[in-house]
Amino acid sequence: MDHSVRIALIPGDGVGGEVLAEALPCLQWASGQGRRMETIQLPYGADHFLATGETLPEKAFQNLRDGCDAILFGAVGDPRVPDGRHAEEILLRLRQGLQLTVNHRPCLTRPCPALEGRVPSVDIEIFRENTEGPYCLQGSTEPGRAVDLAVHTEAAVRRLLGAAFQRAESTGHSLVLAHKANVLKHGHGLWVRIFEELRREHPRVAARGMHADALLCALVQDPSHFGLLAADNYLGDLISDLCAAYIGGMGVAPSLSWAPHRPFRCEALAEPVHGSAPDIAGKGLANPTGMLLSTALLFRHLGWEPEARALEQAVADALATGARTRDLGGDLSTKAMGRAIRDRLP
Ligand code: NAD
Ligand code: IPM
Ligand code: MN
Repeated sequence: MDHSVRIALIPGDGVGGEVLAEALPCLQWASGQGRRMETIQLPYGADHFLATGETLPEKAFQNLRDGCDAILFGAVGDPRVPDGRHAEEILLRLRQGLQLTVNHRPCLTRPCPALEGRVPSVDIEIFRENTEGPYCLQGSTEPGRAVDLAVHTEAAVRRLLGAAFQRAESTGHSLVLAHKANVLKHGHGLWVRIFEELRREHPRVAARGMHADALLCALVQDPSHFGLLAADNYLGDLISDLCAAYIGGMGVAPSLSWAPHRPFRCEALAEPVHGSAPDIAGKGLANPTGMLLSTALLFRHLGWEPEARALEQAVADALATGARTRDLGGDLSTKAMGRAIRDRLP
């Protein structure tokens, strides 16, 4: 991208703002490397909702969609909004409204004393469909029964799986589709049908489907058998947190949501896999690693490969030399961990 990139910053709730603050100096560093960018900070989250009644106003959504290239997002979720309405209307609105079909969640082991001997090394990545399934938010609570509808469209499934096959081709990873088509005959039946079609078109990719229950057992027994995992929104959510455990937990897992068909100017959203972590919010305990690795994924998406690699290497070097927050058994604060990583940038 040659033009100046416009990045919206949405800290959100809880630890979201604490970890996002550590990404800002990395943006400044990329800017110093000659990457042209401007940022705008947006206030949407629980505080703003409780003060104004606004979640993500339609006008603000349109400005983001048509006036920004990407979003860096902290996290949403606040005990003061128990039904999570603002989280739905901000985060799910962005994922769905921007048609960010692919949620890429790589889990790559970076050696770190805290993990040695405790978990096997992994190089797994998840391509999670990010806009549909039960997240379509159609359902009802009726006397004696409750319904959550799961909608799967051929367009989104094809887009997600098409991107997954392309990714597997370029990385050499094997591809496994997680599904429950033995029970969810309609929705997951559609996934399997399109997967089989694409498998025939990509003979070089070692691809197979697995029932998600059996897949989870195999993943825990020996994750080294797995490379790229594709799944619908719901299964992908669960699988990605399980895989995050292999690389050190929620504090270190990154994600990038993007739109393969590029329907709008704003086509990527980088956010850590973790949530707002109300149990540790405001204490400077959050690990910013997942946020910084998400920032690296965004750099790569923008075509800034040297900066992406340098930031990932800085994270690897910091972890390898024992820099760690409390979740990894250390005593660094969020800020100190952010600095430890930044100090290792070239
Ligand atoms: P969570 O990810 O917020 O926390 C789960 C556990 O991981 C907690 O013990 C927490 O302390 C720990 N943790 C999370 N992030 C960490 C970090 N950066 N460093 C160290 N430890 C970290 O999940 P939850 O507790 O199930 O959800 C809390 C709220 O966040 C809920 O409202 C939920 O809906 C929301 N949530 C939001 C997102 C998002 O914005 N993308 C993702 C997941 C959950
Ligand atoms: C995630 C979160 C979200 C999800 C919630 C907060 C809506 O768990 O980003 O993984 O389920 O997608
Ligand atoms: Mn999740």
